[in-house]
Parts: sequence; structure tokens; C-alpha cells
Amino acid sequence: MKLQDSSLLREQAYVDGQWVGCPSLPVFDPATGSRIASVPSLQREDVKHAIRCAGAAFCSWSRLLAGERAGFLRLWIDLIRKNKEDLAFLITCEQGKPLSESRDEVDYGVSFLEFYAEEAKRLYGETIPPFRRSSRIVVTKEPLGVVAAITPWNFPMAMITRKIAPALAAGCTVVCKPAIETPLTALALVALAERAGIPPGVFNVVTGDAVQIGIELTANPLVKLIAFTGSTAVGKLLMNQSASSVKRLLLELGGNAPFIIFPDADIDSALSGVMFSKYRNMGQTCISSNRIYVHEDIYELFLERLSYEVSKLKVGSGGLEGVDQGPLISQSALIRLEQQIKSSVDQGAQIVKGGCRHSLGGTFFEPTVLRDVRDEMRIACEEIFGPVAPVLCFSDEADVIARANATRSGLAAYIYSCNLSRCWRMAEELEFGMVGINEGRLSTELAPFGGTKESGIGREGSRYGIEDYVNLKYMLFGGLSH
Ligand code: SIN
Repeated sequence: MKLQDSSLLREQAYVDGQWVGCPSLPVFDPATGSRIASVPSLQREDVKHAIRCAGAAFCSWSRLLAGERAGFLRLWIDLIRKNKEDLAFLITCEQGKPLSESRDEVDYGVSFLEFYAEEAKRLYGETIPPFRRSSRIVVTKEPLGVVAAITPWNFPMAMITRKIAPALAAGCTVVCKPAIETPLTALALVALAERAGIPPGVFNVVTGDAVQIGIELTANPLVKLIAFTGSTAVGKLLMNQSASSVKRLLLELGGNAPFIIFPDADIDSALSGVMFSKYRNMGQTCISSNRIYVHEDIYELFLERLSYEVSKLKVGSGGLEGVDQGPLISQSALIRLEQQIKSSVDQGAQIVKGGCRHSLGGTFFEPTVLRDVRDEMRIACEEIFGPVAPVLCFSDEADVIARANATRSGLAAYIYSCNLSRCWRMAEELEFGMVGINEGRLSTELAPFGGTKESGIGREGSRYGIEDYVNLKYMLFGGLSH
């Protein structure tokens, strides 16, 4: 591990200001398959202890002024910025994405800390006109308590800060469980939080078996919110498990994004939108375009141009200069992708580009374009999570809206057209939480990220993204005299 600051490579969990546990679970570099470090497998009792400590720390952290908490966050931001290269390197080592994307992720991750450090100062309450002359109604926002953040492997840093930033800024304390594939970035982040002086117990990171830790996080009554990014299946499980203690849930789950291109679109811009939304992070994002609907008048032209762009993508280890596509996260991800392609080809889809394991071996996969894909094929019904672009054909606006909406997911959708009326109309009719109109890059700390239907509950980012971390309190002052 060639870190400039080797003390950022941590192989212990962090609970109540202490580094704990014996490294036993290996962490692998998906580009080589080799072990790069190990982290502890904490037991349920350890997680219970972490929650207790977070509960104790809540008493003092929640009482600080918003500006005081912002001060800690700013010190942490400075340290993250100073160590950007090491953090990016860790992300690439354990997750596989190209280093340039990892650097973008560090900036993206920091943007949430910056935003919420300020936003906590604007957690305004309200006064409501009373129903009696002698009374007054006041509504305030209070920090919720202990938050459990369960985060995914596809964005080892940004999905943590998108939860931790509003939580800490609002006055909550956190027990974070990073994905087993990518715990090292989380541990480096908490090492920097420790250096920034964030008090013990405020931000804890527990590593280990997701099922065991998940059971404690969802059952423990001290935990007031489960903030989770991951698959819809696991989201449903967490909902079930959280029912016994009636927890609040903030869920950012799977997607199946339609990307719709009309003949009057700026084709160059649509092409770069598809390339970004499809091949960012090797297609392993929940807002990745999953069904690319191209109007029949430009279907052949678009396919030709897309295939040409895809043929230029350089596949290799994410740490190498000029690489656009790293490995997939695991063998099981690779096998699932192969099965999705095979099943679609069996039903009549054609491979225009790629379609196979890459000659580099391991979990490298060829960037792929499929044509003649139909809505009922597995590749169009399931979230792909890989570098495969299924291209479908359409002829009519109403029909493509119905087809785009015919999914239980409702995270992101994209429309490309120069007809403003059509764009408005469609953006309103698409049953998705986020719609990119002539734009393939949706992610920003400034806007609410989240979905409808089975894509989740709640929003992350923007002023809306702090609302789940507070309780409203209604105070009625009575017996007031003039
Ligand atoms: C995700 O894939 O879960 C997040 C993607 C993003 O924030 O851009």
C-alpha cells in the first residue's frame, strides 16, 4: 500500500475514540484479487457497546451550538482535503474505480460535509398562529439521537459523508457499518475525524458480518434512524427488522433508469450523457442508465456512434494512467452480468460490442452494447450494475413514457430532446425521484437525491437531506397575559 501517510491504513474498528478488534476479515483489491488488509469481525455485543457509547456522546454533542459542530466538521474537511490523494488511492485499491473517479468521489464526499456544516445553522423552526389569544405555538427541530449508517461498496466515501454530514451537523451521533468489501476508506475517514478532534463516541465505525451487525442496529431501541444505501432486497429486510422498534428509515435503494433519446435531441450531448451515466464506476451506480430508449428514426445512427465511443474505453487496473474502466467488484457480480446478457441474447438481443469477460481476467468485463433489447428481457427488468448498455427502440412519446414507468423502481430517469414542451410534459409524467433533462450527471450535494416506488424513502443532499435527522417538537405556551 503506497500511502503518503501510512497511518491512514487502519485494520481496526473505531468505537468511542478507541481502535478495537483484531484484523480477521480480508479486504481484497478487485483488480488483482490479492489481499490488501484485514479488518475485525465485531460481534453483536461489540456493536451494542458502540451504540451505547454513541448514545452517551449524544448528550454533549447535541447540546453544542450548530456553529461549534460546524467548526469540528471544517477541521475534518481540511484534513480530508490534505489527504485527498491517499483517500482516492484507498478507494481505488478496495473498490476498483479509476483513480480520476476516486478523486472526484473525494470531492463529492467533501461537498456534503461543507454543505451540512452550514445548513445546520439554518435548521429553522416555526411559529404558528395560535387558536387562543393567551397561547402561542412554537415548532422546533431537535436532533434525533443515535443514527446507524449502513453504506455500500460502490461509493466507499461519498455514501458515508452523505449520511454522516447531516447527522453530525444536526447534533446526532453515528454508528457506521461500511460494506465488507470497502471498509478501509471508512476507517481512514474516521482516523481523520479523530485527528480533527471530533469527540469519542460521536462517529463510530464497526466492521464485520452485515447480517449480525444489521440485526443489532435495527433491534436496538437507542438507534433512532437507519440510513441505508444498497439493494432493494436488503432495504426491505431492514424495514422488516426495524419494525419492532419503530425506527425511522432513510433508504436509497436500487434503480432501473430509462434514458430516452428523441430524434430532435442534440446527439453529441445525448451520447456524452449516456457514456457518463452508463460507464461511470463501470456501471455500478444506482442511477446508471439501465434501459436506453432511442427513437426509431435515429436508432441505427445512435447505435453506431455509441459503439464507437464504447470501443475507445480503456479497461485496466484503476490505478493505471488513462484507464476508464476498472474491474467489477466481485466474481458474483461478473457471473450475474454474464447471465443477464446470455438470457437476453437467448431471447433475441444482439451483442454489438463486448459481451464477454475481458482478456485481463479476474473480474474485468468488456464494456458492452446490446441492440434489439425488449422490455421483457431480464437485462431490462433488473438493475444491471455493470458496463452493459441495452438499447431499445421506440416510436411514440406516450408509449415510451408507459414503458419507462413500467417498473417497480423509481430512482432516476433521463430525457434528451430540444422540444421544451415535450421535456416538461415528460419530466412531469415520469414516475421517478430524479429526472435529468438533456443532462446525464445528476449527482450533487445541492439537490435532493432519492427515489419513488421501491427505490427508497427520503432524500439525501440539499436542505431536504437533513430533515430525517431531526424530530419536530410542537410547544404550546398557554396562559400568556398581555
Ligand atoms: C449510488 O449509486 O448509490 C449513488 C450514486 C451517486 O450519488 O451519484
